[in-house]
Amino acid sequence: MADTPPASRIDIDPARRIGTISPLLFGGFAEHMGRCIYEGIYDPASPLADAAGLRRDVLGALREINYRVMRYPGGNFLSGYDWRDGIGPRGQRPRRRELAWRSIETNQFGTDEFLAFCKAIGTEPMLGVNLGTGTIQQAADLVEYCNAAPGTYWADLRVQHGHAAPYGVAYWCLGNEMDGPWQIGHLDAPAYATKALEAAKMMKWVDPSIKLILCGSSSTTMPTYPMWDRVALEHCWEHVDYLSLHYYANNDAGDTPSYLALARQFESHIDTLAATLRYVQAQRRSTHQVFLSWDEWNVWYKDRQMDGGWQEAPHLIEEVYNLEDALVVAQWLSVFLRRCDVLRIACIAQIVNIIAPLLTRRDALLKQATFYPLMLFSRFAAGAALDAHVTAPAIETRQFGAVPALDVSVSQDDSDGRGAIFIVNRSLTAAQPTVIGWQRAAPRRCSAAYQLAGTDPKLANSFEQPDALVARTIAPPELRDGSISLTLPPLSFTVLLTEA
Ligand code: AHR
Repeated sequence: MADTPPASRIDIDPARRIGTISPLLFGGFAEHMGRCIYEGIYDPASPLADAAGLRRDVLGALREINYRVMRYPGGNFLSGYDWRDGIGPRGQRPRRRELAWRSIETNQFGTDEFLAFCKAIGTEPMLGVNLGTGTIQQAADLVEYCNAAPGTYWADLRVQHGHAAPYGVAYWCLGNEMDGPWQIGHLDAPAYATKALEAAKMMKWVDPSIKLILCGSSSTTMPTYPMWDRVALEHCWEHVDYLSLHYYANNDAGDTPSYLALARQFESHIDTLAATLRYVQAQRRSTHQVFLSWDEWNVWYKDRQMDGGWQEAPHLIEEVYNLEDALVVAQWLSVFLRRCDVLRIACIAQIVNIIAPLLTRRDALLKQATFYPLMLFSRFAAGAALDAHVTAPAIETRQFGAVPALDVSVSQDDSDGRGAIFIVNRSLTAAQPTVIGWQRAAPRRCSAAYQLAGTDPKLANSFEQPDALVARTIAPPELRDGSISLTLPPLSFTVLLTEA
């Protein structure tokens, strides 16, 4: 029988602000891997494709999530990719052996197609340059191809390919996971820092307005973490704008209470790198600011099929997401709000088929459980993140000790008076009677509420049962005398929207 814990409290003071929430925290990542690009985004053979070969149903779901930035073309793929293979007439593009995923790359989708796709879903592109097999010259040439006015070779080639106006791509990644021995052209920290700096100089000489993202450690589990980050930053500080971090969460141990407390780990990851930023800035006596870009994050542990067997668009890491995964994703997004002073970009890895909120069949699309927290945060977290004070009963976990049953983030948009409260109840069994109170100005009313909840942490959607886990609208609780009382079911994610 479920026990009834003492009431939890969420105290909100609109004056206690953490920072402004960057819209780029709601970003995605599309890699030439498995069926993300081919059969995910681009599938001319599908009855659901538009005239450009893009899947209309996928575009619709991506627009619903409202991604603000999209990282491309990899991932490990990036470090062996020659961007010049993916431009110009499709019939003349080479088929290549793709070494990162042992797949066949047809190059039917490349930079111009990606930028058209970004325009179609209203998102900002974030392109990576290959610092594995690629040269610093090729990196600068790609910036010219995308951003320069006509009149020189690469810009004129773009015009010849039908794109007269420069694309103005603002965000650029200096390689991918270059700390990893699995990476094509892996370098040690000093060698990467030297190459990244030289690439950065050339790229910014071509277009000084661009923002550069330096490769940080690919995981906290790397033996070189966080030394790699310090060394790369010390060398490149004045030339870069963001430091990347990557992390994939898992429940390999089958320990759901610890898994549902992973927000602790996500916060400490950011805190370590924020401290590294402050250390390097002080050491360099610099006023230049560098922020964090968490440009690969997600749950990934159930499907580890990474060998493409030299196939086109093989089925690789098509992870199925369940309720507990969705609750981890929801907490991760709350951590982004709680650390928005230093974290300015985040990209879920990835957007379709590869460890993604969306799965495709040639004639159908499935929204996984993780679709809902991502969509709700992206739509409703705006303005300032508030530093809410949370009092909740403790849950004992093997990995993190005692953690509060509730994980909470709050946003407040002064431009329209709208607010949002995002709450995960981590308890597997106990509903949490909860009081939400405001110090100073309380909102006028709670205008809408959404909830994703269930009793089985392993429950997942499938093509046969696509609605097993969806965020349902629930009756908004009454806001009376400056506070809300509600009961949060166990294993739940709740979003409350407020109006001033
Ligand atoms: O997202 C899948 C892979 O995970 C990416 O290619 C790589 O950057 C990371 O290790």
